[in-house]
Amino acid sequence: MRNAELSRRSGHAVIPSGVEPAGRRQGISLRLPRRKNFSRSANVYAPCDVLYLSIMPTTDGSQEKTLAALGVTQPEQLAPLFAEIRARFDGESSVARDEATLRQFRDAWLGRKSGVLAGITDNWLKPATPELKRAVGAGLNQLRAHVDAQIEARRMAIESGAEVAAVAKDRVDLSLPGVVRPVGSRHLIRQVFQEIEDIFVSIGFSVVEGPEIETPYYNFEALNIPEFHPVRDDMDTFYVEAQDATGARTAPGSLLLRTHTSPVQIRTMEKRQPPVRVIVPGKVYRRDNPDATHSFMFHQIEGLAVDTDITFCDFTGTIEYFVKQYFGAGVKTRFRPSYFPFTEPSVEFDVSCIFCGGSGTGAGGATCGKCKGAGWIELFGAGMVDPAVYGFVHYDAKKVSGFAFGMGMDRLAMLKYGIDDIQVFFQNDVRFLKQFP
Ligand code: FA5
Repeated sequence: MRNAELSRRSGHAVIPSGVEPAGRRQGISLRLPRRKNFSRSANVYAPCDVLYLSIMPTTDGSQEKTLAALGVTQPEQLAPLFAEIRARFDGESSVARDEATLRQFRDAWLGRKSGVLAGITDNWLKPATPELKRAVGAGLNQLRAHVDAQIEARRMAIESGAEVAAVAKDRVDLSLPGVVRPVGSRHLIRQVFQEIEDIFVSIGFSVVEGPEIETPYYNFEALNIPEFHPVRDDMDTFYVEAQDATGARTAPGSLLLRTHTSPVQIRTMEKRQPPVRVIVPGKVYRRDNPDATHSFMFHQIEGLAVDTDITFCDFTGTIEYFVKQYFGAGVKTRFRPSYFPFTEPSVEFDVSCIFCGGSGTGAGGATCGKCKGAGWIELFGAGMVDPAVYGFVHYDAKKVSGFAFGMGMDRLAMLKYGIDDIQVFFQNDVRFLKQFP
């Protein structure tokens, strides 16, 4: 297209002949071909001798005319025409900068109806004379291969650029401070277990454990509590129905949740010969109604020492040592006669009330609510192992002797830490738990 024609068609300024400007409008630069065939639809401006084209200028060009109209009669005349179109394609390809402009660019060149290559097919190839047809077909194939390859390269470049941008957008800054999750602490009952275990381990005891689901034999009979013994009433519990290895149901009443840690005395003596010195921490269960000092599930620590020459003095010395280690040297202790079927003699062990100092009187002269004015608090039951028990574990009662005790762990913790309701141990209120980090 000549300058005069360009001017007439576009209505814009004319560029001087031979000038090959590069310009920028809407972020798009485009080099124009030196001679003819500018797009008719291109908006052309020429301020300050710079030519600008808006996007997609290729809707018109030499491919819109037949070869005859272009004066092409010989195959050698085709090469400059294809070269010119290829240069036009290369010059315009930079407009494809993102997915949308690439799609427009691709349609402008490869569109089936109005693309540049469709124009060559329709206007050059189809009406070509037999002498020209072969050369037009070859030139068109080469041009198509070039256009396809360039558009594909452009597409990949755009996609990888988008990917890099997306990765950069999603990048996590690992140097930022993270979410701090509060770390819990061991439950007070666990802490007290550990404290008591440490005291007994330091004087030669070892720690053993036993099952929480027991048989009546270990929970009662082997502890010298036969069926129909009245003491079973105080230790009523939950009975469990289970399946044995063959899938058959266990007989009713044949399994129960242990009511104390004492069955582990029997299990230990069955397995070991004297000397035995063990403590047994664990959960126990009773059909007790919940109140400030009772729970249907609570914790005990059992103690058992059996040897050939253990006396009541060893027993009192051991217990006094433990109590002073646990509560402090200032606390006073006492034994009271009691009864357990598996110890003889049996005692209850009391400590002076740590709330009123043993006076029985609280603040303002009122009766101490913790010890109910007695000045003493019952801590646990204990005694010398009843010789009848040795018969169940095949120890020679004439040669061995020993002592046993069973402490309520929850009450020990309540006494030491001034807690007046056993239920708080099981409610998991964080405000309570946080007080014992
Ligand atoms: C017994 O359980 C005996 N096995 C203890 C024993 C062991 C005696 C070895 C002799 C030799 P008793 O039923 O008294 O004893 O329970 C022991 C302790 O468990 C009590 O002193 C009390 O501190 C605690 N206790 C009993 N019932 C409950 C309950 N429902 N809730 C919380 N603590 C309880």
